[in-house]
Amino acid sequence: MITDTDKTEPRRTQVTADASPRDRKDAGRPAPADHPIHPLIGKRWSPRAMAGRPVSRGALLSLLEAARWAPSSYNEQPWRFVVGTHEEADFRERLQTLLMEGNAWARQAPVLILSAYLPESSRSGDTNRMAFRDLGAAEENLVLQAYDLGLVAHQMAGFDAEAARRLLPDGMEPGTMIAIAHPASPDSLSDKLAEREQRPRRRRPLREFVSIGSASGFADGEGD
Ligand SMILES: Cc1cc2nc3c(=O)[nH]c(=O)nc-3n(C[C@H](O)[C@H](O)[C@H](O)COP(=O)(O)O)c2cc1C
Repeated sequence: MITDTDKTEPRRTQVTADASPRDRKDAGRPAPADHPIHPLIGKRWSPRAMAGRPVSRGALLSLLEAARWAPSSYNEQPWRFVVGTHEEADFRERLQTLLMEGNAWARQAPVLILSAYLPESSRSGDTNRMAFRDLGAAEENLVLQAYDLGLVAHQMAGFDAEAARRLLPDGMEPGTMIAIAHPASPDSLSDKLAEREQRPRRRRPLREFVSIGSASGFADGEGD
């Protein structure tokens, strides 16, 4: 079992210390990690405060390029990304209508993405059990690339999946929606959301989800 004494010193990863001047302007909410992690991983989080100003086409293409280079089972690359930006305002509005009310803040984002995947293997025609996983890996690449460029990204499950499926070509399954923007101050949100935006970030400790040397060494969880 992993215990607290396995924590690596120094206990907290100094994410902001490595940040460029551009990053320091958006200090963000760096992960209070127990062991050293890459600054970019610590820096990523899911803000709701988003500036409405456009994201450049070049930056957007870098995000999608990062997704492209994710690993996937048999290199099938079953991910698909449907994108609406300020340049395709009507289409972006269509994507906005898919969002659940709880994600209304994401309507502000200049870029909305509906991610999707091919559930059938293009190789064998069988169900590709790894497809949704592969999409997740591609999304994480995309999101990390966004933070490296000084943008913010927020993945969402809260959207009308049925309506999204109707929008997609036959045989494609909806994954998530992703809002991408330049960062904004939490003051731009309602008080309730602004407060959520500034809560300490929390994760289960390693001992609750890692079992080394046996399959039953997971510590009981107290939740996240
Ligand atoms: C697949 C997925 C779906 C999510 N759906 C929503 C959502 O619908 N609305 C929302 O506000 N946040 C959503 N989130 C963000 C999570 O709440 C967030 O990642 C989690 O609380 C951890 O916070 P962090 O990303 O800031 O570290 C989603 C994240 C993922 C990965």
